[in-house]
Amino acid sequence: MRALRGRLLWFVADPHDAGEAAHRYVEDGLVVIEGGVIRSVGEATALLATLPLDTEIVDHRPHLIMPGFIDAHLHMPQTQVIASYGAQLMDWLNRYTFVEEQKLAQQGHPEKLVTFLLDELLANGTTTAVIYCSVHPQSAEALFRESQRRNTRMVAGKVMMDRNAPDALTDTAESGYEDSKALIERWHGNGRQLYAISPRFAVTSTPEQMTAAGRLAAEHPDCHVQTHINENRAEIAFANELYPEPGDYAGIYQHFGLLGPKSLLGHCIHMTDREWRCFAETGTVAVFCPTSNLFLGSGLFDWARARAEGVPVAVATDIGGGTSYSMLRTMSEAYKVLQLQGQSLSAFAALHAITLGNAKALKLDHLIGSLEPGLEADLVVLDPKAQRAMAHRLETARDLAEELFVLVTLGDDRNVVATYVMGERVVSPSFSGDA
Ligand code: GUN
Ligand code: ZN
Repeated sequence: MRALRGRLLWFVADPHDAGEAAHRYVEDGLVVIEGGVIRSVGEATALLATLPLDTEIVDHRPHLIMPGFIDAHLHMPQTQVIASYGAQLMDWLNRYTFVEEQKLAQQGHPEKLVTFLLDELLANGTTTAVIYCSVHPQSAEALFRESQRRNTRMVAGKVMMDRNAPDALTDTAESGYEDSKALIERWHGNGRQLYAISPRFAVTSTPEQMTAAGRLAAEHPDCHVQTHINENRAEIAFANELYPEPGDYAGIYQHFGLLGPKSLLGHCIHMTDREWRCFAETGTVAVFCPTSNLFLGSGLFDWARARAEGVPVAVATDIGGGTSYSMLRTMSEAYKVLQLQGQSLSAFAALHAITLGNAKALKLDHLIGSLEPGLEADLVVLDPKAQRAMAHRLETARDLAEELFVLVTLGDDRNVVATYVMGERVVSPSFSGDA
C-alpha cells in the first residue's frame, strides 16, 4: 500500500453547474493507493491512523495532487510537424503533415515517435490521451505496445484515408476496415488500451470508406469514433462539394452512422444551427483545440453556444496543429479564445475540463478523472511556484481560486513535480538539449 500526502484537488461535478460544490480541496490530504487503484482519500491526520504500519508514505507537501490530465485529441505522427510556419489547414496538411506522416512507413520511426510522445505527455502530467496514429497499422501497433508497457490508459486508432492524400498515405475502404478491425480485436480492452475508429475527415474518405467506418462503429459500439469537422472554411467547402447530398458537414457523418455519444469531433468552429442541434440530439462530443485553432488561424470555438445547445465538450492539444503538449497551456489559450467572444473560464472550470470534464466526455469517468475511491490512480503533482515569475506573482494571491488561476495561466511542464500511472511514479528522462 502507498499513500501520497499533499494538497488534494479534484472535481465531483462541473463548476458551471455546481459552483463551489463542484470541487473538493483538502489542504493536508492523503490519497491511499492499493493495487494501482485509489482506496481512500481524505484528511491526512485522520487517514494516517487507519493505515497498516508498512504503508509507504510519499510526502508531496506543499504541492498539489490532482487527477492526471486528459487530452482528448492529438496526432502522434505530428510531433515533428508542430511549429510549422505559415499555412492554414489544407495547405498545412499538404505541405507539412502529409510529408511527415509518410515517414511512419519506415522501420523504427513509429517507435521513435511513440516513445517521445508518451515521455512528453507524462512529463506534462497527461496520463490519458485520445490519439490519431498514421494510416499505417504498425503506427497504432507501436503506440499500443508502448502504452501497454507503461500501463497507461490510451485511446488510439489507425487513421483511415483513401483519397485526397499522397498515394503512400492512403488505404482502401476494404483494407482500412480490415486493418482497423484487426487492431480492435488485438488491442481494444487489452489491459488499459482502448480503440478509436479514426476516419481522418470526410475530405480524405470516399463514401465507400465512410460506409466501412460506419459499419465498424456499429459492430463495435464500445469503441470511440474520432474525426474532424468545421475547422476551416476551405475544408468545409471541399467536404460539402464531395458530399452534396446531406446538406451540411455534420450531416455527412450522421448519414454514415458516425455520430453518437462516443464520437469525438475535433474543432466544431463554424457550426450551423442545424449542426449544433444534430450534435445535441446524437450526444456527439465537440472537441475544443484552442492552441491549434489559433495557430492555424481556424477560428474561435464557441463554448457558451455548445453549453446552451447541450453539446458535450472535451478539450485537447491537437498536436501538431496545436503548439503545446501542456493541458495547462492549452487552457490558458482556451481562456483567451473565450475572452475574444466575451466569455470566461475560471481556474476551477479549466481544471475540471482537463480532468473530470474530459473523463466524462470520453465516458471514462468510471475509471479516471478524479480522486474518488475505486478509480485508477493516475495522478499529477503540481508545484504552482516552480517558475520564478509564478512564485513572484503568487506573493499577492489571496485565495485558492487566485492561486489556481495563476497556475492555469502561466503553468506548463515546469510545474509538474511528478506523474503517477496506476499508483507508480513515472520517471521522465531529463532533457539536456543536444542528445
Ligand atoms: N483535419 C484533418 N486532418 C487534420 C489534422 O491532422 N490536423 C488538423 N488540425 N485538422 C485536420
Ligand atoms: Zn486533429
